[in-house]
Amino acid sequence: MTSSPKSSNVTPQLSLESVSVRFGGVTALEDVSLTVAPGESLAVIGASGAGKSTLFRALTRGSALDDGKISIDGRDLYTLSSRELKRVRRGIGTIYQAYNLIPQLSAGVNASLGDVGGMGAIQTLRTFLAGPAPGLSKKVRAALEEVGVGDKAGARTADLSGGQQQRVAVARLVVQRPDLILADEPFAAVDPVTTEGVLETLLNLNKAGATLLVNLHDVRIARRFPRVVALKAGRLVFDGSPTLLDEEKLAEIYAGDTGAPSKEEDREEANLRRRREASARVLEGQDGVTSH
Ligand SMILES: Nc1ncnc2c1ncn2[C@@H]1O[C@H](COP(=O)(O)OP(=O)(O)OP(=O)(O)O)[C@@H](O)[C@H]1O
Ligand SMILES: [Mg+2]
Repeated sequence: MTSSPKSSNVTPQLSLESVSVRFGGVTALEDVSLTVAPGESLAVIGASGAGKSTLFRALTRGSALDDGKISIDGRDLYTLSSRELKRVRRGIGTIYQAYNLIPQLSAGVNASLGDVGGMGAIQTLRTFLAGPAPGLSKKVRAALEEVGVGDKAGARTADLSGGQQQRVAVARLVVQRPDLILADEPFAAVDPVTTEGVLETLLNLNKAGATLLVNLHDVRIARRFPRVVALKAGRLVFDGSPTLLDEEKLAEIYAGDTGAPSKEEDREEANLRRRREASARVLEGQDGVTSH
């Protein structure tokens, strides 16, 4: 059963119509339809492999569709010219499971890259080449401070912990001020206190007008969003208020996920373990940072 939120008169910022994405024999998304109004915030949940990251990638045209259509502001995303696509992408801020920071550059310069969309080529080059601390704008400093890594502006990103890198990725969003934020597990590899800070920053960006889609494993955090969407084996199996997400529904959503226990409390334990493991991987340099 799928319950839809109240329909509105606003043209949806995002609309997916019967979208399917397959990788060989693997179905990542199957017949997914979803509309999101400008300024909405929603959490996407689902077991590992359910298709959450694929959904986010499809929203930036990072995955080819096998079926269906995705529109952004009423325009078919997959038929835009490369110039138009670039413009649309400039309005989208992303945090990927791997944060897409450039490890060799300082935290400050990585955060500055949030501004690259609005810069000319020379200014972009200058941003890359400028020494970290003195060249940073007030905006970048304020963003790093807001997420609690103000003292790391000059530090090489590769030398930061996983959680600190995640916060740099959020600071980059604060600098970018996108219309649409796609945050893929922004709380992986961060402790509960940092989670609160990152969540607050994302919700503030939403309050300031950005549409916010957050991909989560932690159902307790998902409950703090007004709308939750759940995927299971690529299909949309829930879309509605978190108040409608009872234990039975959650058990159905997570059924068959060997990594996720069926009870909510046990799942949170598993989440903490997953976070600690992710942190350790990042510290060992096995994950977390990819170059653009
Ligand atoms: N590039 C790819 N090539 C082949 N299979 C892929 C590719 N990307 C995703 N898949 C498969 O598609 C399915 C959905 O993957 P996806 O990454 O979207 O899951 P997810 O819900 O984000 O999982 P997790 O919670 O573990 O991040 C999985 O079975 C995955 O193995
Ligand atoms: Mg994923």
